[in-house]
Amino acid sequence: MTVQTRADLEGLQHVGRLVAESLRLLEAAVRPGITTGELDAIAAAFFTGHGARSGPQRDYSFPGFICISVNDEIVHGIPGPRAVRPGDLVKLDVTAECDGYIADAAISVPVPPASDTALRLVACAREAFEAAMQVVRAGAPIVAVGRAVEATADRFGFQVVRELSGHGVGRRVHEPPEVPNWDDPSIRGSLRDGQVIAVEPILSAGPGRALEAADGWTMMQEHAFLAVHHEHTLVVRDGPPLILTAAH
Ligand code: CO
Repeated sequence: MTVQTRADLEGLQHVGRLVAESLRLLEAAVRPGITTGELDAIAAAFFTGHGARSGPQRDYSFPGFICISVNDEIVHGIPGPRAVRPGDLVKLDVTAECDGYIADAAISVPVPPASDTALRLVACAREAFEAAMQVVRAGAPIVAVGRAVEATADRFGFQVVRELSGHGVGRRVHEPPEVPNWDDPSIRGSLRDGQVIAVEPILSAGPGRALEAADGWTMMQEHAFLAVHHEHTLVVRDGPPLILTAAH
């Protein structure tokens, strides 16, 4: 969507703050022994208490409130009985809807004792996101985002998971435009002032595709390499973007 009124901006900022707050709560709750289903219940209780709903549940009938993906699960993992173990890399992807507005953000939480690869992946995804923020401006080509993310991944020796992209957001979980994390020659458009997009570097420690698991949801790294995900929802402006899901 494109922000057109003050009410649009305030609605998006409100749901963005809720998403940011939930990620802080969830990050603090990640520890060995907790199950992904228990983490999901924390998110569900938080959002329900704030009059908010799960975006993926509403738009896709996803069987969980949030997506939780561990290690070589890249995205769209279904919360359930899996217990977090020492050394896991836990990806929390939260998309919530409140008063008709949607915000989408994700973090990757390394559980001690984290491997060097896990820590470098997390650092790389954050740097890739920051590099993207340097090029997200009204009028900039959308593909500049992918170039920035890919250049950062290259510098660390990691891979962009090309099957998964950022996207427009705001009224639905996924809206146009597609915002790839690589220099995709098929992407021709430019970013517009007031446009609401989710920028989300999704990277893996080694090569391979994203494949759908037998559960019909979870996207797995083809060769079981670790994957990382870092995401915020933001409003495109002439200057630096307004990040709606940043910690306050
Ligand atoms: Co997203």
